[in-house]
Amino acid sequence: ESVAVLGAPFCRGQKRGGVEHGPKVIRDAGLVERLSSLDYSVHDFGDLNFPLLEKDEPYMGVKFPRTVGAANKLLSGAVSRAVGAGHRLVMLGGDHSLAIGSVSGHARQCPDLCLIWVDAHADVNTPMCSPSGNLHGQPVAFMLKELKDKVRRLEATALQGFSLLQDDVLSVLQMPEIPGFSWTKPFLSSRDLVYVGLRDVDPGEHLILKNLGIQYFSMRDIDRLGIQRVMEVALDHLLGRKQRPIHLSFDIDAFDPSLAPATGTPVNGGLTYREGIYITEEIHNTGLLSAIDMVEVNPTLGASSEAVEATASLAVDVIASSLGQTREGAHASISVIP
Ligand code: ARG
Ligand code: MN
Ligand code: MN
Ligand code: MN
Repeated sequence: ESVAVLGAPFCRGQKRGGVEHGPKVIRDAGLVERLSSLDYSVHDFGDLNFPLLEKDEPYMGVKFPRTVGAANKLLSGAVSRAVGAGHRLVMLGGDHSLAIGSVSGHARQCPDLCLIWVDAHADVNTPMCSPSGNLHGQPVAFMLKELKDKVRRLEATALQGFSLLQDDVLSVLQMPEIPGFSWTKPFLSSRDLVYVGLRDVDPGEHLILKNLGIQYFSMRDIDRLGIQRVMEVALDHLLGRKQRPIHLSFDIDAFDPSLAPATGTPVNGGLTYREGIYITEEIHNTGLLSAIDMVEVNPTLGASSEAVEATASLAVDVIASSLGQTREGAHASISVIP
């Protein structure tokens, strides 16, 4: 079995520099060696070279739309080729706006994929409701078919008791055309997506989650149900009807900031190490994981080099566990002294 590693040194989906150095620190933490020791043949495709655009004015408050659009177009093609060549894919970010390219490229090869989004944030703001204009808070809105589909949306709104909402509030449920993104169209249904780890959801995002009936497990849900039950329900929701490829989009800020300090938008009260690894072990156990994004590791934001190394090494643990590293041990690749 083979794994393709693809670096995406990109930071224009948010305002803090440094996250473009994520691929380097994750590789330096030993990613390729760890995957090789799991008996994969590892194809490191290196880092993508993203185009620099001279002039890129905000559009509807969205920052660097053409730069982010062009980077994701390039990434989408690279991911599609790697998956098409039969590799499992690991994309190293970079900020989370890169999921637009990564998931869309994966979906070109695997149109029936489902998406597990592990994050403190829902990243489903539309330009109308984004509090920041940063595209790393909006990637899921570019994927969802329902946000382009006005008629069905308004019917669903009435059915679910949202009929008292004003038209201007409902406009957050509509995704406009954004310059730089004409190469992609929405490809995911709201029932093909599950969130785990949420604890910082903006008002417009909450309306979208509720209105589209998206399955999500906040940190409160993990407190109530436990991570074992959460993963059981999450995987049954996505795979209960039929088995299909999984895309795991993992934002390192899903973890508690005490474990993953080197990231741009930390939020207290995150996943423990054991909860995070349990999530990825369960995803591995489905046998259906096809692509992973590891994003938002920002080596310039750690208070010390130890803090940066801890964050990068956690990212490697998450990837290795997603791809079959176990805590109980294994004997498939046993070697005996001759
Ligand atoms: N919800 C906030 C926003 O829209 C923060 C998003 C943080 N996203 C991330 N991928 N870290 O700007
Ligand atoms: Mn730099
Ligand atoms: Mn996040
Ligand atoms: Mn995110």
